[in-house]
Amino acid sequence: MKIKQINGLNGTITVPGDKSISHRAVMLGAIAKGTTHITGFLMGEDCLSTIDCFRKMGVQIDVSDNEVVIHGVGLHGLKRPQEQLYTGNSGTTTRLLCGILAGQDFDVTMTGDASIQKRPMNRVITPLSKMGAKINGVDGNFCPLTLHGADNKLHGINYELPVASAQIKSAVLLAGLYAQGQTTIIEPAPSRDHTERMLRALGVDIKSQGRTIVLNPPKDLTAKNVNVPADISSAAFFLVAGAIIPNSEITIKNVGVNPTRTGVIDVLKAMGADITESNFKNDVEPTCDLTVRTSKLKGTIIGGKVIPRLIDELPVLAVAAAFAEGQTIIKDAHELKVKESNRIAAMVTELNRAGADVKETDDGMIINGGKTLNGAIFETYNDHRIAMSMAVCALGCNGESEILNQDVVSISYPDFFDTLQKLGGV
Ligand code: S3P
Repeated sequence: MKIKQINGLNGTITVPGDKSISHRAVMLGAIAKGTTHITGFLMGEDCLSTIDCFRKMGVQIDVSDNEVVIHGVGLHGLKRPQEQLYTGNSGTTTRLLCGILAGQDFDVTMTGDASIQKRPMNRVITPLSKMGAKINGVDGNFCPLTLHGADNKLHGINYELPVASAQIKSAVLLAGLYAQGQTTIIEPAPSRDHTERMLRALGVDIKSQGRTIVLNPPKDLTAKNVNVPADISSAAFFLVAGAIIPNSEITIKNVGVNPTRTGVIDVLKAMGADITESNFKNDVEPTCDLTVRTSKLKGTIIGGKVIPRLIDELPVLAVAAAFAEGQTIIKDAHELKVKESNRIAAMVTELNRAGADVKETDDGMIINGGKTLNGAIFETYNDHRIAMSMAVCALGCNGESEILNQDVVSISYPDFFDTLQKLGGV
């Protein structure tokens, strides 16, 4: 995909449904009693992997243009799949499924693509084993994972999370649905709470207070329709593009603004971005429209408790920092090294390729912004967010750039380049 420097992005857009919420709507809909209609579902490859896994366990799922319908089988209605479950590139599918599969009375093997086979799974194996699960993986850590559900009965635990990770938290909560007794989780810092909100909406007794979450296992989950808001992680590419490209004004409709996800807005505003929120709505998840206008950005420090609230947006925030005046320090972001790619190394290499001044640190990067950036051929490391971040960067680089292997965006945002074109950007 070739991208030229652009002199303005303008228009009103909708970005696809939230990836985290789409996954959870399928998973919880599948084990609920009754039928779940999901609108706004993200038809990206990751969420389709989740659908595929549940179909293999006997759940009827109808997919049409405007909705996904899940015919729930109840907490104990999943069937042993005839073949391995394949989770593709999706860490959320793999880790959350571990929680559900740990509670089944059958054995099952699960694996994913080359990236998934390198991502650490001991972070879920450890707490689930403490609950009584029997999970074997390569070196006790990697896919393929075999879950020996038939051999065990789960019991609740009191678990202090070693990292602020919604995937670990959710895996433990989902296993907690099948456990005897209460499950308590203590988070080091707030991570996205979509699982807690959706479980509560489905009638589960789950309470959050400060850093502690307490779940009592239910008899059933009661199906409830889900309207998936637009994904703030996808909106983030346009928030940054609108801020750094001259003569721009972009409105993004109906974006999920759950406070555990809005770190990107807080940081961009602290950098001087002109972002306004309007048309607030409050359902299970809060939403609003976001408008961004061209802004003069300045450097900032991004670290500490905000990191889990913007973990997936750090690559594109690094782009914002390269176009800002002054220094930006990203720290406390070790987790970026174990995402779909090592996103610290990837962004440092690619931004420097354009002529930016970026240094890698142990837990992040230091970006001396405001250098003149020139078009280049950018690699994407088979990582959807690196591809979209470098596409945003390319819009602001002198001359023409090329994004290699651009199709990887279909993991979370199949129409990304079409939307960019609609705004005048390709
Ligand atoms: C997600 C949690 C985050 C995030 C991922 C989606 C989720 O991962 O990076 O894209 O849906 O729970 P971690 O829990 O590993 O931080």
